[in-house]
Amino acid sequence: MILEALDHNSAVPLYYQIRKHLLAQVRCGALKPGEMIPSEQELSTHLGVSRMTARHAIKSLCDLGVAYSLRGRGTFVSGIKLEKNFRQVISFTEEMQKRGWRAESRTLSFRIARASAEASKALRIPAKAKVISLRRVRLANSSPMGIEWSCIPLRMCPHLLQVLDPRRSLYDTLAREYGLHIVIADETIEAGLAIAEEARLLEIPRNSPVFLFTRISYLHDGKPAEYVRSTYRADRYKIVNRLTRPRVDWRH
Ligand code: GLP
Repeated sequence: MILEALDHNSAVPLYYQIRKHLLAQVRCGALKPGEMIPSEQELSTHLGVSRMTARHAIKSLCDLGVAYSLRGRGTFVSGIKLEKNFRQVISFTEEMQKRGWRAESRTLSFRIARASAEASKALRIPAKAKVISLRRVRLANSSPMGIEWSCIPLRMCPHLLQVLDPRRSLYDTLAREYGLHIVIADETIEAGLAIAEEARLLEIPRNSPVFLFTRISYLHDGKPAEYVRSTYRADRYKIVNRLTRPRVDWRH
């Protein structure tokens, strides 16, 4: 197995780069179910990373259910498929691309605003601090899927109003222009009924069922970078979760 050199200057943490590379090997079949993945020691020697970083990468694969460790023997690829819909922190644009659909956005507002009480708490910024507020209807193949309202601390991306074309990917611009990579998100999902404005924007009858998402997205160092509230059509959107069970010691 070829271990790709890591980019030590990247803002993407090293363990995450290793994990991404190993996941790609599993996906393309270079690492097959039952095969052993490189050990902590091999990873650290070949890639010039600490044992702790290598351990972190291996553990994150186990946490995903893609690999499992046998004490004293090593870590092996499991037969669990990496489904297409597996919930990952991907942008709307990427998600639609994966499904083979065209992602588009209709901008409702894009401006500097004062953070709401919930947004400032979620983003851990002072009350009423300035944020970039972006409200868009997200469309797939020209059909509305959902309405997203993102708030990002202004001091993280001071000129976003000038550099982002809101019809395009927010995550892509944050990464390219500011080196901000969203890698983790906490999300709450509730059921709701579309109020008049949402129904109009989503082109559905009033009171139709919708999913209400509240998300806090984080950078690799744990800093919150985005607070998002979205309303998605329940007839078009499906949520697929993979659940993993904490490690059980089978010998008992
Ligand atoms: C998903 C997330 C949003 C995020 C958006 C960015 O839809 N739920 O929190 O703002 O992706 O998408 P894009 O980069 O396509 O603008």
